[in-house]
Amino acid sequence: MSDQNEYAELSWRDGKIPVATRFDDPYFSLENGIAETAHVFLAGNGLPERFKAGFHIAELGFGTGLNLLCAWKAWEEAGHTTPLRYTSFEAFPMAPADIAQAQAAWPELTEYATRFAQLWDHEIGRIEYKTLQAEVVAGDARATLPRWSGTADAWFLDGFSPAKNPELWGADLMAEVARHTVQGGSFATYTAAGHVRRALASGGFTVKRSKGYGRKRHMTRGSLESG
Ligand SMILES: C[S@@+](CC[C@H](N)C(=O)[O-])C[C@H]1O[C@@H](n2cnc3c(N)ncnc32)[C@H](O)[C@@H]1O
Repeated sequence: MSDQNEYAELSWRDGKIPVATRFDDPYFSLENGIAETAHVFLAGNGLPERFKAGFHIAELGFGTGLNLLCAWKAWEEAGHTTPLRYTSFEAFPMAPADIAQAQAAWPELTEYATRFAQLWDHEIGRIEYKTLQAEVVAGDARATLPRWSGTADAWFLDGFSPAKNPELWGADLMAEVARHTVQGGSFATYTAAGHVRRALASGGFTVKRSKGYGRKRHMTRGSLESG
């Protein structure tokens, strides 16, 4: 997947929650990463209800793979037997051993984490499996997304907090997200930062604020209406 020699530098909270040294921010909710993913990224995009054959999720920030595992599980539990397509953009990949340590903290996802460990080829950055076709695109999303030839049905916008990781929330990148979304497609993110909402609206999305997960009052979701 990567021509970089270095993996993301981390520290761990309680041995379970990785915190990125570069961004001084945890990879997922300190309260409950799985419940946050289900609320923000799945429900926020109308999933699993909108799942259909060939459905394509794209994500800014692959991190630990938590969102991937949750989406894959939801896809199979919804009865799909063909591949869910999942493309994630990641500039600072975690070391495979760190990914394994993070994923080991979620007993509910053991089956999917075990498969991930067996199938994941870090050099190639792809998984081909009967119910999952995944790719992690290495590099800064500001450079890689404009060159991407795909379009997504649903976006998981999951950079670190906009204050700590402004690169992943800029207006140009949000416009690229919209440009790489099918008509009727959607995005969801945990942040309700005004400049992010405005950037997504300028990109063409109809943007809505809704109830956030846990202590976060609001989150943001939206769709690309046709016409
Ligand atoms: C909050 S974490 C993502 C968590 C992840 N979705 C998960 O399920 O574990 C944010 C991710 O964005 C990545 N990132 C930060 N800046 C980036 C950039 N400019 N381009 C691509 N990825 C970036 C970080 O390396 C980190 O993995």
